[in-house]
Amino acid sequence: MSDTFTKGMARNIYYGGSVFFLLLFAGLAMHTTREMPKSDHRENLTQAVVNGKAVWEDNNCIGCHTLIGEGAYYAPELGNVFYRRGGGDLDAFKGFMQGWMKIQPLGIPGRRQMPQFNLTEQQVNDLAEFLKFTAEIDVNSWPPNIEG
Ligand code: HEC
Repeated sequence: MSDTFTKGMARNIYYGGSVFFLLLFAGLAMHTTREMPKSDHRENLTQAVVNGKAVWEDNNCIGCHTLIGEGAYYAPELGNVFYRRGGGDLDAFKGFMQGWMKIQPLGIPGRRQMPQFNLTEQQVNDLAEFLKFTAEIDVNSWPPNIEG
């Protein structure tokens, strides 16, 4: 065997490495596909949740807020706001959301403002359902702090 690094060796590393990482990728992709239904609780996906997500997107809430860590860092994380402001109770949370959305902007000097979106009661209830759904996704207890 020669001491030099031959073209053949380089080719074997190239093909061997490619096959190894392709198999690893396929395995991890299959694992994710199998595990996701257990953690995202898609069985809770109702029409109200779907409508709430549409309201969320149409009004660009993510332009200021994060949801499970993704989004903008201007305003609080809302991935766990269902537990923070509703204590895990849907009726209590809907009550909070109706009040909160109605009184914006608070207009307190020196405090960041949230705009008034003029949403209907139905739209706010749907938003509450959507935020409850996201709160119940198993994200390994993230964020670790109830305040977001
Ligand atoms: C222009 C930026 C901005 C946009 C867009 C925005 N928000 Fe906010 N939101 C804020 C700010 C700032 C606060 C914190 C206000 C405060 O504490 O006085 C806040 C607070 C909240 C809270 C209360 C969070 C808590 O922990 O008490 C909720 C719920 C909320 N927003 C929902 C929404 C929803 C739903 C939308 C989309 C319809 C939205 N926000 C769009 C800026 C925004």
